[in-house]
Amino acid sequence: MDMAAEVHRSVIELLIAQAAGHCATFADLLASLPGVGPDDAAVALDYLAARQLIDPAAAERLNPRALAHQDNDVLAGEDDSLPCPHPLDYDWRFTPDAAERLRAQCVQVSDSGDIIALLGTPTVLKAAAARPDGRRWALLEANPAVNAVLNKAAPRAALRCDLARDNLPHLQARVVAADPPWYPAHTRVFLWATAQVSMLGATVLLAQPGAGTRPGILAERSELLAYAATCGLQPVRISPGTLEYNCPPFERLVLERNGLAAAVPLTWRRGDLIELRHTTVRQRERPELDSEQSWREVVLNRARLRFRLDPQAADKTRPADPRLIPLVDGDILTSVSRRDLTRCRAAVWTASNRVFGCRAPGLLAVIASALADGEPALPAAGTWLGRPPNPAEISRIEHAVDQLARLTRAELASGPAASEPADSISGQPTPHPAIAWSAS
Ligand SMILES: C[S@@+](CC[C@H](N)C(=O)[O-])C[C@H]1O[C@@H](n2cnc3c(N)ncnc32)[C@H](O)[C@@H]1O
Repeated sequence: MDMAAEVHRSVIELLIAQAAGHCATFADLLASLPGVGPDDAAVALDYLAARQLIDPAAAERLNPRALAHQDNDVLAGEDDSLPCPHPLDYDWRFTPDAAERLRAQCVQVSDSGDIIALLGTPTVLKAAAARPDGRRWALLEANPAVNAVLNKAAPRAALRCDLARDNLPHLQARVVAADPPWYPAHTRVFLWATAQVSMLGATVLLAQPGAGTRPGILAERSELLAYAATCGLQPVRISPGTLEYNCPPFERLVLERNGLAAAVPLTWRRGDLIELRHTTVRQRERPELDSEQSWREVVLNRARLRFRLDPQAADKTRPADPRLIPLVDGDILTSVSRRDLTRCRAAVWTASNRVFGCRAPGLLAVIASALADGEPALPAAGTWLGRPPNPAEISRIEHAVDQLARLTRAELASGPAASEPADSISGQPTPHPAIAWSAS
């Protein structure tokens, strides 16, 4: 274990040793910790209990694995009008209350007619669409399936935009609310974009992970605030733990796998809200986002399946083999962390966090897409190969078709289905008109 992880673990143990006596349930304990995840908290609790470092009665009372599993779906307050989140998008959505509070905060610091830019915060646009307020709202969001749904409620307000690559619209926003994937490289991109789309004096509301979310968060934050300053953004206020998130289905399955689902509320996750002010105009180059993997999405029988398309994932050997290869026990990745090493080996990834290897994910995507369109797989595979499949390939393609059928059944059984089809989110640059939707 590296030094940062060691320090992180000791701090969690210290916080739990201090809080355990005052908490009635594991859920209370989680709520008392600054963003610490259920897995880390459970490990620390086990460690302290095994060494009798906390009161035995508290250890018994707080043991998250002692509770029988119950279906706590009804507690989620889930927003099923948007497409089900996919783990590859790091898509953690606010609870409706949190989205509404952010919306109200944006309105409070702006005037009628002002533009409010939402960077990766679709649930705030959804809240705005429900309450006319005279502001002009513009969501810049990379996920086309989410934008398609939102544009029905707030016409032309959701712009498909990859903030790391695409041209940004000229907005001069009075307020920006941003919730990047919780990693420094993404956050730098969102901060840079914030400075580009906002006017001098603008208020910026930035969601960030709580200090206990993973090792090194405060060091990361210090570096990010220094970067923000170079973009002309100065911190004004930090409100720890004020942003509440819904647990997405892919995280729920991980909790179930780890035996924690019964003890963990579906709204356990909390983020910090950092308010900044755009104080100075600074010209900076757009920060680079590491060349990320590129994925194609196919919605098959309402299951959201992603296939890796970048050259590293392709295997040109013959015969072509599109079969799914198991990577982890039970197929579900028992972590939602970007640091999990299985991420590098996965070539097929579902919305419920099922991951597989595959020697020809591009071919499997073409097969899935043909099936989704009600077409036979073999001719589509032949087009992709540029020749008719040979007998060995035909048998592998047929096997892959069976695997896809089983996979989509498992997806539907374990998570909400996608509500809107999407073709691909592999990030083709798209031009944007400078428009904003007015909620009047
Ligand atoms: C952590 S989620 C935040 C969702 C937010 N909490 C909500 O409830 O509306 C990050 C969001 O940013 C979007 N996103 C990720 N990378 C992006 C990029 N490069 N450009 C634009 N949007 C991006 C994701 O699709 C997702 O909607």
